[in-house]
Amino acid sequence: MTCRYFTVFPFIALVICGRLLDAKSHPKIPDFLKICHRSDPNLNECIRTSVEALRPHLREGIPLLNIPACEPLHVPQVEISQGSGPVAVRSTYTDIQVSGATDFLLKAVKVDLEKERTKLKIFLPRLEMVANYTMDGRILMLPITGEGKGYGNYTDINAIVTTQGEDYANSKDGNKTYFRVTDFFVDFNVGHATIHLDNLFNGDETLADAMNVFLNDNWKTVAAEMKPALEDAVAELFMDFANRIYAKFPKDVLFPK
Ligand SMILES: *[C@@H]1O[C@H](CO)[C@@H](O)[C@H](O)[C@H]1NC(C)=O
Ligand SMILES: *[C@@H]1O[C@H](CO)[C@@H](O)[C@H](O)[C@H]1NC(C)=O
Ligand SMILES: *[C@@H]1O[C@H](CO)[C@@H](O)[C@H](O)[C@H]1NC(C)=O
Repeated sequence: MTCRYFTVFPFIALVICGRLLDAKSHPKIPDFLKICHRSDPNLNECIRTSVEALRPHLREGIPLLNIPACEPLHVPQVEISQGSGPVAVRSTYTDIQVSGATDFLLKAVKVDLEKERTKLKIFLPRLEMVANYTMDGRILMLPITGEGKGYGNYTDINAIVTTQGEDYANSKDGNKTYFRVTDFFVDFNVGHATIHLDNLFNGDETLADAMNVFLNDNWKTVAAEMKPALEDAVAELFMDFANRIYAKFPKDVLFPK
């Protein structure tokens, strides 16, 4: 039996690319997607190499699937509110531009079709980010406030993504069986980070310079404190992206018999 593991491709594309344009009808499955067989004893490896082969298409975008070019990747907004502990800040990032996302290395794929579970191990050598930020709160006892451009460089990122999905009857499409992701977990670890926040403390340069030095000296502590909130924000974002594409195809289009 031949089966195109189509679900996995847009899933990865969305995990990596983040944004999706609107499609009016179900697009055709493009020819450059490598076909993996359900009976393949090395199914996970087949999917892994297929996704790796998709990388250049992700860079340039896949108009057929309404996936735009994703260098840089654009994320409209992420909000992180952290109420208590050593890092208690409310921050909003808008207009986020991420470079380097398509240099991902898919280290391992584990698909359990029966349980509708996926596990991915991803390595990213380097991400560069720029965003508009607003921030207010306290970091390791020090008050912090600012609004402006924020920059971050992150290297040696290891991530584990685990998803759980389910089937449902889509009343908008004659009760056909569709698929959706119900749980999305992200666990990541950053090897090193450097950050710079413009216009901290209303442009007070002495305070701002000291705070930027402090943030970089203490990035590990700050990152560890913000990790759960950040992982939740990223997971929510990508689950929404993944479900936007899954909602466009009946399951028997994603998994043809
Ligand atoms: C980001 O900031 C620039 C000014 O530095 C502004 O022109 C732009 O509209 C801002 N973007 C958003 C989404 O707020
Ligand atoms: C879909 O299912 C609902 C509830 O089971 C039912 O009321 C409706 O008539 C069904 N629609 C179609 C097109 O079969
Ligand atoms: C990020 O790296 C670029 C070089 O690729 C450098 O120009 C920039 O200053 C770095 N930014 C930060 C915040 O370290």
